[in-house]
Amino acid sequence: MNLKDFFNKANKESWAIGHFNVSNLELLKAVVEAAKEAGSPVVIGTSEGEREWLGLKSAVALIKSYREDWPNIFLNADHTKSTEAIFEAVDAGYDSVHFDGSALSFKDNINETRIAVRYTKGKNKNISVEGELGYLKGDSQLTGKKIAVTPDDYTKPEEALKFVNDTGIDRLAIAIGNIHGINLDEPELDFDLLEAIRKAVPENVALVLHAGSGIKDADIKKAISLGISNIHISTELRVLFRDGLEKQLEENPEEYALYKLEKEVVGDIKELIRQKMRLFGSVNKVKP
Ligand code: G3H
Ligand code: ZN
Repeated sequence: MNLKDFFNKANKESWAIGHFNVSNLELLKAVVEAAKEAGSPVVIGTSEGEREWLGLKSAVALIKSYREDWPNIFLNADHTKSTEAIFEAVDAGYDSVHFDGSALSFKDNINETRIAVRYTKGKNKNISVEGELGYLKGDSQLTGKKIAVTPDDYTKPEEALKFVNDTGIDRLAIAIGNIHGINLDEPELDFDLLEAIRKAVPENVALVLHAGSGIKDADIKKAISLGISNIHISTELRVLFRDGLEKQLEENPEEYALYKLEKEVVGDIKELIRQKMRLFGSVNKVKP
């Protein structure tokens, strides 16, 4: 099954596919092993910075090799701010791209997203393309800061329909009160707005909830029941990795074999990802 088939299945059956950001082999290993053990499809995300660090070709090669063991993994070029960077990811062999034109005017966002779709589908129509509408604030960091969002930042249902029709995207990232990172306040999602967007946008377009870290489990479940079929998580993995590594370094001052220090940390991250997969309902959606 390709990504589009999985999103259609998830939407029909009311569950969501996890999208987990990675910037190194340890995080990638944790996501892939957790997905295989859970019998779950999964999207591996690399932001512009993350994939510059990993190397686009290396990321594609790693996924190709892990796929021999668990075929249901898909590599996404997350939050891509220019069409040139979309072309690079497509040419490198990514399975999915996310054009993030949220900083552009509505008109320019449509035009640029359309260019991204045309190029990507021209190369391979099975590559999934995500567009973004509304302003998603914050970064994938643990900040403790207050980040205010106003309805002005939110996705408007009428604009969402026009955006989807004019661009031909497969997935739409929406802003309904979700904020990247773990910040001072727990995010408050506007579920009425989510319902209205789901009603406005054709069913075969998947709705994506970014900034999944720090959202209450009950709210995640409700968002899925109202039509979200893809959820992005990054900060929670970053925090667990850094805190776990600090603990290992403190407890093992004489250990220099890095993989030994990382083993327990990767195990903890795998457990967090398995928990998310259970919460998203994606467990055992693929038989091994
Ligand atoms: O695209 C990445 C995500 O939206 C991650 O957000 O760091 O709040 O989990 P998060
Ligand atoms: Zn995001």
